[in-house]
Amino acid sequence: MMIMIVFAVMTLLDPAFAQRQPDPINPTRESVNEPALLEHSPSIKGRITILDSKAALVEQPQGREWRRFHEGWMPWIGAAVPGAMILLLAVFFLIKGRIRTQPNELSGRKIARYNAFERFTHWMTATCFVILALSGLNYIFGKRLLMPIIGPEAFSALSQWSKYAHNFLAWPFIVGVLLMGAVWIGDNVPNRVDWAWLKAGGGLFTNSHPNAGRFNAGQKLVFWFAIIGGLVMAASGMTLLFPFTVTGVNGMQITQALHAIVGVLFITVMLAHIYIGTVGEEGAFEGMASGEVDLAWAEANHNLWLREQQGKEGTVSRTLKSEPAE
Ligand code: HEM
Repeated sequence: MMIMIVFAVMTLLDPAFAQRQPDPINPTRESVNEPALLEHSPSIKGRITILDSKAALVEQPQGREWRRFHEGWMPWIGAAVPGAMILLLAVFFLIKGRIRTQPNELSGRKIARYNAFERFTHWMTATCFVILALSGLNYIFGKRLLMPIIGPEAFSALSQWSKYAHNFLAWPFIVGVLLMGAVWIGDNVPNRVDWAWLKAGGGLFTNSHPNAGRFNAGQKLVFWFAIIGGLVMAASGMTLLFPFTVTGVNGMQITQALHAIVGVLFITVMLAHIYIGTVGEEGAFEGMASGEVDLAWAEANHNLWLREQQGKEGTVSRTLKSEPAE
């Protein structure tokens, strides 16, 4: 009260006095200097008494950077990188067509290439991957592309289910990647034959068939990408699935960006893999579907592996009745 009377008297005597005084309604204003506080620490935190210490975070400017990446850069990266691969594959297909083992070359005799466990592991991982990829792309593009077409109700129902699918199918996918790693690592160790295969461009541009073991250098690259990429996706995904357990909000922004970028690269590499395993090359799909391939296909694509297998007894499994054998 006394202060207010002094203040009123001083203002009467000297009208400029009031303007020189700090605003009496906001006495703490001068102490909250945002840029100065942020110079000393990456975020502004308060002091709280509730158990959830996260609630003490008042301001975290890196969030703005992350939002710029998430809403600005990410959709462009997500469209451009797989889009460029689709274009490349389309051009390749138009120029080269389907790589065929000539019908007159087919021997009609089969050799076992993948056992039931290998095929189960591969298709479990592949099925999970396709659903994870589609539901992942929905995080980036759904709001922009799907919602205007199907409407907000349908989009929110779809997104809810796709989120459940993403969260739950991550587990069999991780198991699949680990199993695939365990089963095939022995056949994917790089060697000198791979270097020669790469130098020959896999024979893709010369219509030749460079030497190759069970997996050629291109397949080995796919294998290592799947294993390393799968582990990065698993680790970064876990930090998002269990928020604040391993890292705080800043760390989660970084792992989210990593998850999204590696995810988009993973999809891009797998587009090439799926292309070559289906329309790109005749005979490849048959191996992963039935477990057996024609001897002529094996000779053309994996000659060193075929020699090795022929050295082992009983691997050339059967002769097709409809086709003459040799
Ligand atoms: C619908 C999707 C897929 C299709 C149609 C497909 C098709 C195939 C085929 C036909 C093969 C046998 C190639 C050969 O014997 O020479 C194969 C092998 C393989 N697949 Fe897939 N695949 C798919 C998805 C995936 C995914 C998602 C992964 C990994 C996460 C994967 C990893 C592998 C690996 C490591 C091999 C052995 C090495 C290689 O051939 O590259 N595949 N796949």
